[in-house]
Amino acid sequence: MRTKITGTGMYVPDRVVTNDDLAQWMDTSDEWIQQRTGILERRWIGPDQQPADLAERACRQALDAAGLEPNDIDCILLGTLSSQADFPGTSFFLQHKLGLEDTPCMDVRAQCSGFLYMLQLADALIRAGTHRKMLVVGCEVHSTGLDISTRGRDVTVIFGDGSGAVVLEASEEEGDAPGILEVRIHSQGEHAKRLWVEAPGSGISPSRLTHEMIDDGRVFPHMEGRFVFKHAVTRMPEVLLETLDAASLKIEDVDLFLFHQANLRINEFVAGKLEIPEDKLFNNIMSYGNCSAAAIPMLLHETQANGMLTPGKLVSMTAFGAGFSWASAVARW
Ligand code: ACO
Repeated sequence: MRTKITGTGMYVPDRVVTNDDLAQWMDTSDEWIQQRTGILERRWIGPDQQPADLAERACRQALDAAGLEPNDIDCILLGTLSSQADFPGTSFFLQHKLGLEDTPCMDVRAQCSGFLYMLQLADALIRAGTHRKMLVVGCEVHSTGLDISTRGRDVTVIFGDGSGAVVLEASEEEGDAPGILEVRIHSQGEHAKRLWVEAPGSGISPSRLTHEMIDDGRVFPHMEGRFVFKHAVTRMPEVLLETLDAASLKIEDVDLFLFHQANLRINEFVAGKLEIPEDKLFNNIMSYGNCSAAAIPMLLHETQANGMLTPGKLVSMTAFGAGFSWASAVARW
């Protein structure tokens, strides 16, 4: 028994926010953002859109590609760090939008590594026979939680809104048949406060949210950018090689490398360190910014659509994010 990806989908809102748009609201520039991150523009939701709307669009596209209806799905996993509501999260709203009555769903919190964490979980559930057809979706609406002033510029310029989804199905095919080959995940809570949103949080008493917290900007993401950068460029190659090794594969065997889209410079650094040729890489951060848990399924969808990801190819996926969390997976398409 193995787990096969049988459909991909993605959705980004129509509203394009350029670097020049951001420069109207804070002290930044197109040049600074492009040089430091590679980002040209990102998408932000419109006034009537919510996370589950984005996720629904991505899921319906993935279901169509797999030739399935929502009712065929027996479990939904949704990765996010920007929940539609503190509880119950986002997945329950998505489940209802898909017209499902009692299909189990859950939110998984592993930030930018969330999709790969879910891939490991879903693979285990499918191999164990617990579920046979699963939707795994990453969905982020960052734009409504950003500090749109110079105070927040280091974080605000990198984030974007978007959703990506895959359908996973049990497969009895063997040998070189398509499927997930290996997934490896890691966490390091020691650095939880190096990249986080502190408030509102139940760790704060007697009240998890006060006017002072809002005024002090404790409700916005805070990141020690250089520290995060250094850990990302160390952990990503480490876990990528660990995962390939577990699958008895080498860098040269892989046809396509997909890296989390947090900063183009991180990805260039990792690719350089591992001597990965440029024609085996694909990035879309230039157009969408960092969509956290949605980034990897969005890459899967776009590389399938542009012909880089075709049947039989080996694809390696690697992410690093808040927590710290990092992960890698390798699959045959
Ligand atoms: N525009 C203009 N200037 C800026 C901006 C901006 N948007 N942001 C920061 N600066 C300034 C700083 O204030 C600083 O000025 P100073 O020298 O006068 O003090 C200067 O630019 C350099 O700041 P650094 O933070 O050192 O800049 P750096 O080169 O590290 O780039 C960046 C910042 C792009 C955020 C980078 O550190 C980075 O990408 N870090 C990793 C991000 C990441 O991987 N996140 C993980 C995923 S996200 C998740 O999991 C939720």
